[in-house]
This record gives sequence, C-alpha cells and structure tokens, in this order.
Amino acid sequence: MKIDIVSVQPRMFEGFLRESIVARAQRKGACEIFIHDLRDFAHDKRRTVDDRPYGGGPGMLMMCAPWFEAIETLTRDCTARPRIIMTTPAGKRFQQSDARELSEAEHLIFMCGHYEGFDARIRTLATDEFSIGDFVMTGGELAAAAMTDAIVRLLPGVLGGGMAATRSESFSDGATLEAPQYTHPADFRGMKVPEVLLGGDHVKAEAWRQSEAAKLTRQMRPDLTP
Ligand SMILES: C[S@@+](CC[C@H](N)C(=O)[O-])C[C@H]1O[C@@H](n2cnc3c(N)ncnc32)[C@H](O)[C@@H]1O
Repeated sequence: MKIDIVSVQPRMFEGFLRESIVARAQRKGACEIFIHDLRDFAHDKRRTVDDRPYGGGPGMLMMCAPWFEAIETLTRDCTARPRIIMTTPAGKRFQQSDARELSEAEHLIFMCGHYEGFDARIRTLATDEFSIGDFVMTGGELAAAAMTDAIVRLLPGVLGGGMAATRSESFSDGATLEAPQYTHPADFRGMKVPEVLLGGDHVKAEAWRQSEAAKLTRQMRPDLTP
C-alpha cells in the first residue's frame, strides 16, 4: 500500500513514522508512507497557502490552487484510483469498519486541513471525508496519523500475532468491546485474576470472555448494544 499525506506541518509526522507498528509496517514492506509539504505547491515566495474568507469571518482558509495542484501531482501517474481522504470535523465518523475497508486499497492520500479549514471547493477533490470525533483540532495531522495507524496495523504481516490479533479486538464485529485481559502476577495487591483464566480450559475461558465482552459493552458503550 502507498500512503501520501499532504500537510502544512510535515514535521509533525517525524516521530510517528519512526516508531512502533507504523515503522515496522514500512520496514516489512507492507506500506510506503510519503509526507508532502503543501507549501511546495504555493505560487509565491512566501509559500502562502491560505487567504481571508469571502463574506468575512474570523481566521484564514486554505486556498484552492495549492490543494488542486498537490492532488493532481500525486494522482498523475497512478495505476490504481486512489482514495483521497479529507480530514474534517464535518466528515463521517471514522470507525474500525472504515479502517478495514481502507486497508484493502492500494493507494491512500490524506489531506490535512489547517487554519479555519478548506475552501469549500476543495471538497470536490476528496473521495472520502472523515472526522475522528466530535471535537475540533488545530489541524488534520493527528487525524491522518490516527487513521493511518488504524489502517496500517491491519495490513497482512504487520502485527506479531497475525490476523488473529485483530479478530477479537474491540469493534472487530462492529458492536462489541474486547473482554478484560490480565497478565502476571495472578494476584496483585489482592486483585485476583478470574479463576476461569487460570485453569487451562480454553473452551470455558472463551465462553467467559464472550460474556464479559458483552457485559463491558453494555456498561461502557450502551449505544453499541442493539
Ligand atoms: C481548526 S480545524 C477547522 C474547523 C472548522 N472551522 C470547523 O468548524 O469545522 C482545522 C483542520 O483540522 C482538521 N480537524 C479538526 N478537527 C478534526 C476532527 N475532529 N476530525 C478530523 N479532522 C479534524 C481538519 O483538517 C480541519 O480542516
């Protein structure tokens, strides 16, 4: 998979690309990630990419020309039609099912907004518009990083535990949280690991996990429960 990320804050991705699963995915050849500075597509010496909104209002908006030229450049010689993802609080709420669907694409392009957001005409470039939650951040960089992480860890060969590692996770069926999990010691300051997990009976342990997962989902996320 190829991932292009376009931003006015390209250095925000330095640590993200070098660490953990995202670094491993690149090392293993599961994906290539390229960060592009939107200012490289500006037309003036000051590398301006924003301007005042028509009709007044606070702040600045991202201008059309740099975004259209950036996307035209990144899509020019593409063999597969890329998914072009605009980060915006107005987008569809990003979910695990979106991460899974996008993990099957060959090429993703993330558009990171900034200032007061995008000139509305820039929306015509996007194939998808995603929000990562009902709150407003300064820029789309953290949203693009969050989505990239969720997608890349689903690529074959990236996680140590293989596909099994993602199959029983929270949201993997769209509606259930993962059951509580425990590691050593079996008794920590009087807090004991449930007996059923200590006995070695995998069938009983799995039944317990399913019932605890349902209980936790009802308690923490009643909105997911039918
Ligand atoms: C300060 S925000 C602009 C907010 C915009 N004026 C509004 O009220 O919807 C700047 C950029 O951050 C990104 N952003 C902010 N919050 C986001 C969220 N919850 N999900 C995805 N992207 C977000 C978007 O790219 C947005 O264009």
